[in-house]
Amino acid sequence: MSAINDRQLVEAALEGSKHAYIPYSNYRVGAALLTASGDVYTGCNVENAGYSPTICAERTALVKAISEGQQHFASIAVVSRGAGSPCGVCRQFMFEFAPDLKVILADLDGQVQLTTTLAELLPHGFGPANLDER
Ligand code: THU
Repeated sequence: MSAINDRQLVEAALEGSKHAYIPYSNYRVGAALLTASGDVYTGCNVENAGYSPTICAERTALVKAISEGQQHFASIAVVSRGAGSPCGVCRQFMFEFAPDLKVILADLDGQVQLTTTLAELLPHGFGPANLDER
């Protein structure tokens, strides 16, 4: 049982979105990732004048968590205008560590628009098991 509920995770994602660096798109995204042990890591999108180096909020949160030794995740809340769905790169990135992740999508008012799973967003994903020798 986790002490953090979906509402609290959305609030954390909204907090994370405040730090978004978005001079090019002006599309603010925040994420909050809940670990299996109950810790929360937030993230925001960080854009770049070179455009392609831009990192999404979801991957920011994951990299923060993984770089601090976390590898087991329960859920992620993502907030953006219109409750946008995670991009393909982020789906692949999340699949590596958490194919069973719960995904909560909310708008910038904190209204949850969709609660789903990574398995639904990325069916038949390519992951570590595919590289097993056999
Ligand atoms: N973005 C995210 O942060 N997460 C997504 O899953 C979709 C896109 C960001 C990247 C860029 O800074 C802006 O939204 C517009 O694409």
